[in-house]
Amino acid sequence: MSIHTPTATHEPAAKPITTFDILAAKGKRKLAMITSYDFSIARLSDQAGIDMILVGDSLGMVMLGRKDTVSVTLDEMIIHAGSVALAAKRSLVVVDMPFMTYEPGMNEAMQNAARLCRESGTRAVKVEGGREIVPQVQALVRTGIPVCGHIGLTPQRAAVLGGFKVQGKSAAAAYNLIRDAIALEQAGCFCIVLEAVPAPVAQRVTERLAIPTIGIGAGPHCDGQVLVYHDMLGLYGEFVPKFVKQYAQVGETIRTIFGQYASEVRDGVFPGPEHCFTIRDEELAELDQALRDGGLPETNHR
Ligand code: KIV
Repeated sequence: MSIHTPTATHEPAAKPITTFDILAAKGKRKLAMITSYDFSIARLSDQAGIDMILVGDSLGMVMLGRKDTVSVTLDEMIIHAGSVALAAKRSLVVVDMPFMTYEPGMNEAMQNAARLCRESGTRAVKVEGGREIVPQVQALVRTGIPVCGHIGLTPQRAAVLGGFKVQGKSAAAAYNLIRDAIALEQAGCFCIVLEAVPAPVAQRVTERLAIPTIGIGAGPHCDGQVLVYHDMLGLYGEFVPKFVKQYAQVGETIRTIFGQYASEVRDGVFPGPEHCFTIRDEELAELDQALRDGGLPETNHR
């Protein structure tokens, strides 16, 4: 008998979602995107029918415990994106390019995106910024790498935005956001994440674009929504942004279960007989006899 009991999967082969499907969804159906950073959660996201899985650099905070996303490296993104790519049969995987892997120029953007895609097995990237990164977006798209934009609150620039704050609150700032969105669309982005912007501003951006907007803290008028799953499930204890809907307190459930496990180990309740492997009586008797007699001859048999 095997130690592991594989679960039988008889699911029909899923048709992978492409950037064309994402574009075609505009005005027809809303898109659901969620973060994943590892194989197991990505598989659940994929099986749940999520359209796009985002391997966000939020992993620096929710997975690695750092204070922001700036320290996340390309190597770290490659490892996490690689595990997600192995799980995603249907969902389109989009991977964040970390801080300073695309801002310096088109060459850096292309070299780093090529490494990210080649080594992780993913195809689409996300970059933060507006008109100032149009040359990089154009270069990536020309090279064959689909690009998702990200404007509004761009966490990689939180230090110059005054922290994790709502963006586009003045008429001038909102106008700039719209100009950024149009520039990114013209540069070739297949969708744009709008983070932490007033809902009426997100509506105006969405109405002016032929590509989908994916909102996070940007209200109901966006063409889709994205959330960090740690926030949705109550797994990240540091803070919960206002725009997050907490669907469950899984963190609390995990804490309770781990506490129960610790008690059962200490009290000798776990493992029970049903969790143990057996050995034939005659083998055990022979072993005990040998232990009493001072040993058995050496053998290669296991
Ligand atoms: O890194 C991330 O998870 C993101 C989302 C917040 C959109 O960029």
